[in-house]
Amino acid sequence: MTTLPLAAQKSSHIRFSLNGEDTDVSFAPYKTLLEVLREDLGHTGTKHGCELGECGACAVLLDGKPVLSCLVLALECEGRQVLTVEGLVSEGKLHPLQDAFADLGAAQCGYCTPGILVTAKALLNENPHPNRDQIRQALSGNLCRCTGYLQIFEAVEAAMLKMAEDQDAPAEIRGEAKVRAGTQEPR
Ligand code: FES
Ligand code: FES
Repeated sequence: MTTLPLAAQKSSHIRFSLNGEDTDVSFAPYKTLLEVLREDLGHTGTKHGCELGECGACAVLLDGKPVLSCLVLALECEGRQVLTVEGLVSEGKLHPLQDAFADLGAAQCGYCTPGILVTAKALLNENPHPNRDQIRQALSGNLCRCTGYLQIFEAVEAAMLKMAEDQDAPAEIRGEAKVRAGTQEPR
C-alpha cells in the first residue's frame, strides 16, 4: 500500500469560527468535522463514540444548532460557526451547565458529557425555560451509560434556574424554574 505524503493528504482547507476564534485548518478531504477537531486541531473535548450517528458523544453546535460531528464533513464547515465543549468556558469561568453537572453528579465517567452540555446549551438558548419533557426530548439523542439520566435532567434544570437568576428574570419565572429544578441539595 502506498501512503501519500502528509502535505498531499492535507489537501483541503477551510476557514471557520471555532469557539469564537477565526480558525484555518488543512486536512484530508474525506475527514469528518469530528476527526478534524480532534486530530488536526487538538480539540479532544468532543468525544468519538459510535461514529454512526447513534450515541451523541460527538455533538457540537454548528451555527448554533446541535449536530453529530461524526456525520458532518469538515468541508461543509467553511465560513460557519462551530462551538465545542471547550468554548463553554468564558473568561475562565465554567458555564452554569458545567457547574451544575459537576455539583449534581450528572457527569460520572464523563464520556457523554461534552455532547450533552452543548446540546443542553442549544436548548437553553432557544428556550430558556424548558420543562422536563422538553429537556428529555432535546437530549434524547445523547446516550449515557452511567447516570440513568435523572441527574442530567436535574442539572439542566438547576442551570436554567441559575441562568434565570443571573439574568435577573421576573420573580414568577424564577419561582417556576425553582419548582422544576426541585431545589435539591447537591449529592
Ligand atoms: S460518535 Fe457521533 S453519534 Fe456516536
Ligand atoms: S457519565 Fe458516563 S456515559 Fe454518561
